[in-house]
Amino acid sequence: MIPCLTILALRVLVTVSLGQTFQFQEHVFLQLLGLDKVPSPQKFQPVPSILKRIFWDGEAAATSGGSRDLCYLKDLSTRGNILRHLLDQGLFLYSEKLPQASPCLQKLLYFNLSAVQDTEQLTMAQLGLDLGPNTYYKLGPELELALSLVQEPHVGGQSIPKPGKRLVLQSVPWPQGVVHFNLLDVAKVWNNNPRKNLGLLLEILVKRTRDPGVNFQLQDTCARLRQSFQASLLLVSLNPEQCHPSSRRRREAIPAPKASCKNLCHRHQLFINFRDLGWHKWIIAPKGFMANYCHGDCPFSLTTSLNSSNYAFMQALMHAVDPAVPQAVCIPTKLSPISMLYQDNDDNVILRHYEDMVVDECGCG
Ligand SMILES: *[C@@H]1O[C@H](CO)[C@@H](O)[C@H](O)[C@H]1NC(C)=O
Ligand SMILES: *[C@@H]1O[C@H](CO)[C@@H](O)[C@H](O)[C@H]1NC(C)=O
Repeated sequence: MIPCLTILALRVLVTVSLGQTFQFQEHVFLQLLGLDKVPSPQKFQPVPSILKRIFWDGEAAATSGGSRDLCYLKDLSTRGNILRHLLDQGLFLYSEKLPQASPCLQKLLYFNLSAVQDTEQLTMAQLGLDLGPNTYYKLGPELELALSLVQEPHVGGQSIPKPGKRLVLQSVPWPQGVVHFNLLDVAKVWNNNPRKNLGLLLEILVKRTRDPGVNFQLQDTCARLRQSFQASLLLVSLNPEQCHPSSRRRREAIPAPKASCKNLCHRHQLFINFRDLGWHKWIIAPKGFMANYCHGDCPFSLTTSLNSSNYAFMQALMHAVDPAVPQAVCIPTKLSPISMLYQDNDDNVILRHYEDMVVDECGCG
């Protein structure tokens, strides 16, 4: 992110909160967040525990101060600053074979990766298949899970697409909660060429068994599995433009005195409450944040009262000579990031770290 754009967005947000020309500036701010419109989630989604944990760890690190690497996710041991929990948009498939001969579950899995921007690098793509609570049917039939790429466009709703390259073939002795698979290579191909994303074919088959009692339970087990089954893709990506240490001096500027004189440049407290903006409908956490802003005069006397070789001093000097050169202005000199957990238009839960959202210090520059 270009720093000046972030600062601009912060100013914009300040103006937003002051209730001026809301529509346009909201758009600018949303753009900064990588959104083209205000998300209006259809259904409230539970926040996956891994996203919750990373969010709260980040909050704890922010309050304890110090510098932290915003682009390394310790919990996942991977680099990244954007986490998306994508929901499967595929459909269940039903074959015309006799029920005994057909798989327990056949499903087309589809994940829409269109939200990933060109500046992002995918660093992790983990498929999660929720096979139901592991208390079900410990004595049920042994299942086999087969996952393949779909290589031809799927037409006609219910028919079974021809499976392409097989990605996974694994035995599942009994329903066992969520099983994970690494799909990074596949996701990279889809991301580079969305037309290649025709989805995945998941088949859960029943392994042959000689115990007749087991077949009796089979329909029931499969029906339960179809009912509770859920698939998701945890996509982690890195926007390298947002990987600066979290605590640093933005640019050379003369630190403003600590509000000793009311009108001089200093930091003003400002809490942005997302509810005031109507954004609580899609931002899950935080409820708001202490954004603060810089405001006040930067008179020549202040700009020159400190020894400085930076351009603010030169600018102040130039202004004294030529009033057409604008005076130094009150700007943020130190900013810090926040993390936001929100839900997008496709009901995906997203965790992102945003740099330069909180003004820590102001100065004349
Ligand atoms: C993927 O999502 C985008 C944005 O929500 C949408 O415009 C596009 O049609 C979707 N693609 C498919 C194949 O569903
Ligand atoms: C400012 O610079 C002058 C000349 O280099 C030096 O003598 C003086 O000690 C400096 N003052 C401060 C506050 O650094």
